[in-house]
Amino acid sequence: MIQVTGLSKKYASYVAVDNISFSVEKGDIVGFLGPNGAGKTTTMRVITGFMPPTAGKVTVGGFDVFDQPMEVKKRIGYLPESPPLYPEMSVRDYLTFVARLKGIPNIEIPDRVTQVMKKCSVADVSDKLIQKLSKGYRQRVGLAQAIVHNPDVLILDEPTSGLDPKQIIETRDLIKGLSGEHTIILSTHILPEVEAICRKVVIISKGKVVKTDSVENLKNRAVFTIELSTAGDADAVAVRRKLEQVASVSKVLDHAASAGRFAFDIEGLTGSDVRPDVARAVVQAGWNLLEMKSSTTLEEVFLELTNTDAGVSETAANNGGAQ
Ligand SMILES: Nc1ncnc2c1ncn2[C@@H]1O[C@H](COP(=O)(O)OP(=O)(O)OP(=O)(O)O)[C@@H](O)[C@H]1O
Ligand SMILES: [Mg+2]
Repeated sequence: MIQVTGLSKKYASYVAVDNISFSVEKGDIVGFLGPNGAGKTTTMRVITGFMPPTAGKVTVGGFDVFDQPMEVKKRIGYLPESPPLYPEMSVRDYLTFVARLKGIPNIEIPDRVTQVMKKCSVADVSDKLIQKLSKGYRQRVGLAQAIVHNPDVLILDEPTSGLDPKQIIETRDLIKGLSGEHTIILSTHILPEVEAICRKVVIISKGKVVKTDSVENLKNRAVFTIELSTAGDADAVAVRRKLEQVASVSKVLDHAASAGRFAFDIEGLTGSDVRPDVARAVVQAGWNLLEMKSSTTLEEVFLELTNTDAGVSETAANNGGAQ
């Protein structure tokens, strides 16, 4: 549905996005992850046709973003980092205005606007001026304008930023509800958000894609700590050897444990979940499995992959000058 091939974007001489490629299947919901300044917003602006690339190609639904911009714009809903709102308009008037811009037939507009206000929980402020809304409500109006024409593809740049915890959950549910019929890319720094909403992630760092994988696989890179006890007087080396023999295990390291117990950090082979195999091996050995918990969070996997050094790239960008 979305194909990004060899995309680069320079601001003056500064390379913000450097030869990235990835694709998003129809109905997929992809988290676009990266530290500040990684190039997420820049990539999203190019995909939505807001900015031309310096090199490379982007197609949406088979249409080239720059050769057939109208075809692409019809199919895309975009929530930018700062939603493009008109403060002096009421919510309903603004959404009606956007609906008209997006080419929805006049006769369908009132119903469509009412539906979308309900979906984004802004119906209760429909007649309020946008300038009088709180940040969270403005963000919801931003989301409403992105989906008012029922686009196939949604590009959401940090859709839950500035929302309170209740609104965050509501917005995530709303986005999840839109997946399936819509293809969605959303950028975020919030790892639990990716776990809650996305099936796949594209991780970028300093303008380059460092990982494209399923959320499932990324989580399986995690290290697990297990704690067990044995009936007899088995020694730690023997217990560790046994765990090392489990097929999906790649590494076993000793972990501090209380008296009479053994604890190890266990890392699995990439893409496999070691937990069922390890649990089985422990039980088959006649030992007592006391605890098994993830000791690496998705955050740690993310940090390892991005090895963040945002300050440097930001300085370099500022020296590079404006667009
Ligand atoms: N108009 C511009 N002119 C010059 N440099 C820019 C411009 N817009 C972005 N940059 C630089 O390009 C790099 C990528 O910026 P971008 O906004 O795409 O990052 P991001 O991943 O969206 O970051 P954040 O998480 O902070 O939103 C940054 O180093 C930024 O300073
Ligand atoms: Mg950004």
